Formats: sequence, structure tokens, C-alpha cells
Amino acid sequence: METQQIKILPSLLAADYGHLADEIRRAEAGGADALHIDIMDAHFVPNLSFGPDIVALVRRVAPGFYRHVHLMMTNPHEYIDPFVAAGAQTMQVHVEASCNVLDLIHAIRARGVRASLAINPETPVETLYRYIDDVEEFLVMTVHPGYGGQSFIESCIEKIAKLRAHTGKDIMVDGGVNAETAKRAVAAGANMLVAGSYLFHAQDMAAAIDSLR
Ligand code: DX5
Ligand code: ZN
Repeated sequence: METQQIKILPSLLAADYGHLADEIRRAEAGGADALHIDIMDAHFVPNLSFGPDIVALVRRVAPGFYRHVHLMMTNPHEYIDPFVAAGAQTMQVHVEASCNVLDLIHAIRARGVRASLAINPETPVETLYRYIDDVEEFLVMTVHPGYGGQSFIESCIEKIAKLRAHTGKDIMVDGGVNAETAKRAVAAGANMLVAGSYLFHAQDMAAAIDSLR
């Protein structure tokens, strides 16, 4: 069987904020495929994280490092332009957001940005099926979004497998990913893995990235 190329995205949320530029470069030098940047609005999730300035910082310190922006926001449609201007290359939005999801996807794609659609653990995977032809990538959240360092929710594995049976497009998992949970997610059909704590808390990030691949 041909080995599938698994894409690895360190989540900046788990970086040492006292050395943010070095942490961004460490992830790039470790061989990551893209940097996952978590945007939290203290409304869609009970936490605040970064705004567009941090996306622009990533572009400044590592211009060639792909910027994958996860919008955990109630009103993502109001923030598309600032994040595009800051250099977002994929924008990941939630099917649970309080807006017309199809309009949102079209607005993202109209700006030349890749669109990705995410679902929370409690949302049935079938909710994504009507958007199968509209985005290039799906995200099955494997923790309740809002914080890094949580445990992988095993019941989400079944959602990955169901979604894989419906599409050949990219399927990402995010939350509680480590060398063990990654195996189960990939076996179920995921081909993109986001990992925060597991990668940024590793002494040797390159080795940790290899262990996920
Ligand atoms: C959770 C975020 C994740 C988070 C993952 O709300 O969307 O991207 O940073 O962190 P770990 O890998 O530590 O679970
Ligand atoms: Zn995320």
C-alpha cells in the first residue's frame, strides 16, 4: 500500500509567547507543513487568543511558512478582510458560526484564500455533507475548542471515518493529537494533523513531527 503523505501543523497556541518569533521559526525548521493559528473570540469559545497582528507577525518572521488560520468566532464574516490582509492562506470556519456558512465560504474563496470547514465534537458529521463540494478541506475537532492541552475525544474517530467515506478531500483533526491518537485518526481517514502541546512542548520538534508522520 502506498504511504499517504500526512501534513503536520503545529498550533501556535502552545508556543512560548516570550519567544514567539523563535517559536515560529522552530516550527518551520522542524519540517512542519504549515502553522496553525487559533483565533478565539471569548464568545464562540470561552477564551481569547490572537488577532490579525499575530498572523502578520508570522508572515514577517517566516514569509515562506504557510499560514493556516482557525477562526473560532461567532461572527467570522466580519473578520475575513483583516485576516486576509494579514496573510491568512487557509481560513478555517465553523459550521456552528452564527452566519450563512455558504456565503462565508464564498467570501473566503473570492479573496483567493483556501476555505476549510470545521465541526465541533457535539455536532453530527452529517452537517458537513451538504458542503462537500464547496470546500477543499474539513476539520473534525477532537476536543471542545477553546484551550490547548485537552484529551482527545475518542468518539470523534467514527466521525472521521464517516466523512472519509463521503469525500476524497483533506480531513484534518485538531485537539489532543499525539503519536498515539494520531495513528487512530489517520487509520480512520485523516490526512492533516494539528498538534499544539505535543509539538511545542517537545525538546526536539523535528523528531516529534516525524513521530506524527
Ligand atoms: C483548540 C485549538 C487547537 C489547540 C490544540 O481549541 O483549536 O488548535 O491549539 O492544542 P493541543 O494539541 O494541545 O490539544
Ligand atoms: Zn485549532
